Amino acid sequence: MSNQTLMIGQTLWFDSDAMQNGADAARYHRRGGILIDGGKVADRGDADDLRKSYPQADVVDCGEGLILPGFVDAHMHYPQTRMIASWGKRLIDWLNTYTFPEEMTLADPAEARARADLTLDLALAHGTTTQVSYCTIHPCSVDAFFESAAARGMRVFAGKTCMDRNAPDGLRDTPQTAYDQSKELIGKWHGKGRAEYVITPRFSPTSTPEQLEALGALWAEHPNCLMQTHLSEQTDEIEWVKSLFPNAKDYLETYEQFGLLGERALYGHVIHMEPREMDRLAEVGAAVVHCPTSNTFIGSGVFEAAKMASRGIRVGLATDTGGGSSFSMLRTMAAAYEIGQLAGTALHPAQLLWLATEGSARALKAEDRIGTLAIGSEADITVLDLASTPAIAQRHARAKDIWEALFPTIMMGDDRAIKSVWVNGHPVTGE
Ligand code: GUN
Ligand code: ZN
Repeated sequence: MSNQTLMIGQTLWFDSDAMQNGADAARYHRRGGILIDGGKVADRGDADDLRKSYPQADVVDCGEGLILPGFVDAHMHYPQTRMIASWGKRLIDWLNTYTFPEEMTLADPAEARARADLTLDLALAHGTTTQVSYCTIHPCSVDAFFESAAARGMRVFAGKTCMDRNAPDGLRDTPQTAYDQSKELIGKWHGKGRAEYVITPRFSPTSTPEQLEALGALWAEHPNCLMQTHLSEQTDEIEWVKSLFPNAKDYLETYEQFGLLGERALYGHVIHMEPREMDRLAEVGAAVVHCPTSNTFIGSGVFEAAKMASRGIRVGLATDTGGGSSFSMLRTMAAAYEIGQLAGTALHPAQLLWLATEGSARALKAEDRIGTLAIGSEADITVLDLASTPAIAQRHARAKDIWEALFPTIMMGDDRAIKSVWVNGHPVTGE
């Protein structure tokens, strides 16, 4: 048996930023191939050419399947998997009613591991090979997620969610324990296998200035970690932030003044933005993460993806489960399209696919490892069936080009469209 695998099917990848260049950024092969060697993409191109160049490779013929990078879900909450689709609240009520009681259950390491296993299996079933997750305040919830991901070979990003106010007993830490436990978890996990630690203050309302300061200091000591938090998701949340931080110019400044703004910062939602906040994000080179099914589900507002990209701000895409209403990045792309329509820009299928793969990877500064099919990239691959249901198939049958062939699956597809998934060069589902 050879060590090389040649996957053959339709292939699509990007040569440049599709948010800037649209479909011109994409390279499509009707019959293309991806050569995998040692868990990485070793070559790519026309299928026949690759067969000739690598006659010894084991060939996996994906037929009409569309070979893509695995999806990268750039913001989600694995502790909330069981409470997805909880009815009828706005953000603050939703957190108090559903989220905090649910997060309490992860104090139990066995419960945390079961939730992580469930979440990562659901991710893979939906073609998502990387998740960026918030954990809970419990260090064992971070261990559980990284252990579960390691058992599946997945590259994941996660961190202990820090909160020291406006959260119930049992779900609060302190500035010191947030710092100490996060620091210990960085030492234990960051860079171990495919694990990457993310410093994670939940959001300004649930951290005192002292806690934000402590986490800003920790980030300064570990500048190669990402830092993730929430920013300007709902108008009532923004009013609350103003009352808690009366001296801050705006929401972003509540992070900025404590050293929680930088190139490796990842802000979720980012909907109701002041001009100064947009300017600062662009100047500093921070990334934002669009969570469209969550924004409609919780009733948060209209994210302006095209405006962000036109300012040069890196944009990732995410489910934000359990605030988001789907584990599927296909459904998430559909929601991004719908929100784009409301914002006045019809995002091209190339841009939607970009956001779910390389765009998210760039937001994480991980595009050298995941989210692409570039040579040298880790071989996390999702193969789509573009005719997975009768409704999709009948539309697909009339498609005139790859974009018309793909768009029905973006708009109507779910886990039935996932033909196979490969993680680190190995098939995990479908083969
Ligand atoms: N803001 C602070 N915490 C959360 C959360 O868990 N979900 C969402 N959607 N927004 C938040
Ligand atoms: Zn979130």
